[in-house]
Amino acid sequence: MYSEKVMDHFTNPRNVGEIENASGVGTVGNAKCGDIMRIYLDIDEEGIINDVKFKTFGCGAAVATSSMATELVKGKNINEALKITNKAVMDALDGLPAVKVHCSLLAEEAIHAALWDYAEKNNIVIDGLEKPKSDIGEEEVTEEY
Ligand code: FES
Repeated sequence: MYSEKVMDHFTNPRNVGEIENASGVGTVGNAKCGDIMRIYLDIDEEGIINDVKFKTFGCGAAVATSSMATELVKGKNINEALKITNKAVMDALDGLPAVKVHCSLLAEEAIHAALWDYAEKNNIVIDGLEKPKSDIGEEEVTEEY
């Protein structure tokens, strides 16, 4: 049911953890299942994402998509990161079962929420970025992968 890449990123997720004094932190919740994801971005003066980490209290598909999403945004600039959709993440994982597609939205939205936080902290506007409706702010993530 799951591709080899999904299983790989689920059993050996990349970039798990947190970044102290991150440039931007985004926490989102999945309305369908209640799962939670938090992403930390370290962005330099040039707007390049030098480091990214995530924590999730979510299902296996959420873990795998977050892991892949962090791999895709690392080293990108803000505008490139903004364009990484959940579909791009799923394609990079060789697909997800239809019932798990909603899980992949967590990663995309968490990245957008973290970019939103970065923009707010720096008083800038990022073209094309909207605050995700699933942004749950500072709510504590009580369990992590
Ligand atoms: Fe909740 Fe997958 S079932 S994120």
